[in-house]
Amino acid sequence: MARSALLNVMVQAAFKAGKSLARDFGEVQNLQVSLKGPGDYVSQADRKAEKLIREELMKARPTYGFLGEESEEIIGTDGAHRWIVDPLDGTTNFLHGIPFFAISIALERNGEIVAGVVLNPGTDELFTAERGGGAFLNDRRLRVAARKNLSDAVIGCGIPHLGDVNHGKFLIELRHVMGEVAGVRRLGSASLDLAYVAAGRFDGFWERDLMPWDIAASVLLIREAGGYATDLDGSNAVLASGTVVAGNEYIHKALREVVQRPVPAR
Ligand code: IPD
Ligand code: CA
Ligand code: CA
Ligand code: CA
Repeated sequence: MARSALLNVMVQAAFKAGKSLARDFGEVQNLQVSLKGPGDYVSQADRKAEKLIREELMKARPTYGFLGEESEEIIGTDGAHRWIVDPLDGTTNFLHGIPFFAISIALERNGEIVAGVVLNPGTDELFTAERGGGAFLNDRRLRVAARKNLSDAVIGCGIPHLGDVNHGKFLIELRHVMGEVAGVRRLGSASLDLAYVAAGRFDGFWERDLMPWDIAASVLLIREAGGYATDLDGSNAVLASGTVVAGNEYIHKALREVVQRPVPAR
């Protein structure tokens, strides 16, 4: 598997941040933590990782823009390219000592995601994709799962945190989904959850209210692994919508229908 120079830059940046996160994860009780809103945490570890990634990427391509969760956006001078970065996706897991979190780095060109990297620094699982070049887990080519029926499917999801207005909506969707599928999981890192769809571990996934940095890299992973990742209407503009439904052709279609099923009148 040959990686382009740009993908190599992204991989290097992810590993650099991964080392920093792994060190901080070992001393998580000593980290400074603050709240951005109810149930929404950020720590020194998030900020340090973003700084490392930003420096590495901006050094390699100084004219590109940069959109990261924890720092002010840089508008690029080249007008076409933008990095989209989540330095620590799964902060709540991280701060609780749960080793399921990731670094997500995507490259957007003229509004299209052309390369994506998701790294789990706990397991050294590196998910990469370039548009038209396939998706990989380390050196292994990925393919979404082949299961066609929801009744055989394991579906990942995201649960709204404290302060989110969508608790009621989520419970209705969950009730409908769990009535149709073999099992539902909530692992707590959207980028890694979606990478699990690309790897055929999850048959499908849905979540609302995600940010571009949660999904940009993984949506490309899924598409390059032969799957679908759209909003509820089936539009590919998931970064704008923030809602993602993913899976192979069959599960994606069926899951979209179930998530949107109307509540029966009493
Ligand atoms: C969060 C995680 C989580 C998802 C939240 C995200 P963060 O990202 O991806 O799984 O349910 O919506 O905000 O804040 O840990 O980077
Ligand atoms: Ca966050
Ligand atoms: Ca995130
Ligand atoms: Ca984050």
